[in-house]
Amino acid sequence: MKDQVPHMGSNRTGVQMSPLDARRMHEQQGAVAPAALQSPGAAASADMRARYIVDAAPLGSVPPPGSVKGVLNTGVAMISGNSPQLLLDKLGERLAFERTATRICDVLITKVRATQGEHGDALLPLDILLSMRDQEAEHFALLARCIEDIGGDSTAQTPGADLVGVESTGLLQAVGDPRTTVVQSLHALLISELADNSGWEVLVALAAAHRHTAMLREFERALERERAHLQTVKAWFERHTLGAPTAPEYPH
Ligand SMILES: [Fe+2]
Repeated sequence: MKDQVPHMGSNRTGVQMSPLDARRMHEQQGAVAPAALQSPGAAASADMRARYIVDAAPLGSVPPPGSVKGVLNTGVAMISGNSPQLLLDKLGERLAFERTATRICDVLITKVRATQGEHGDALLPLDILLSMRDQEAEHFALLARCIEDIGGDSTAQTPGADLVGVESTGLLQAVGDPRTTVVQSLHALLISELADNSGWEVLVALAAAHRHTAMLREFERALERERAHLQTVKAWFERHTLGAPTAPEYPH
């Protein structure tokens, strides 16, 4: 079984490996410079970045609803000033994230099975992780249905979906890396659950603002589940890292 605690080895990445160069570097740079004292190189790089920012096109757009029902619904919402494109963007965003969250769980399940056996262990019972994975997949399906219900295209990549696709790529890579331990992967899953909680809170608020009562009920239920995920993953992470004795009951 892979050791969950990092071992000491021949790590040569730190500046202590070269005392002479370390001294020279400190003489030239000192401590981390405050923003007001940026080096000329850093200021030039910020100037160039600023030019790209000013000239850049937006990340994408929200496609107009394709169905008559969607056009009607969107038209009504637009008249009442409810920005239906914002709702569609945020639904697409959550859908993209839940897809990646499902994949993160799939990869972690494989890692737990490979290192801790078919059922996980007392610190990380696999049946709970499997249930969490299925709920992420259910949330993905729920969002696809909600987008279609208001006439949107659940396969379209909205700007928000593009954004979280890029953000969550690093999390999936971290868990998918065969060298990372279960506890290191739990850290990535914890970030994913934190983002999920915040994302569902926004969706609950948007569904309420748009007076989508049925959607609101389902989103509140999803948020409740995501809160349980966060609590559980945080407890797993802390128990694996600190040996903390307690963990909350996971509501199935
Ligand atoms: Fe979750």
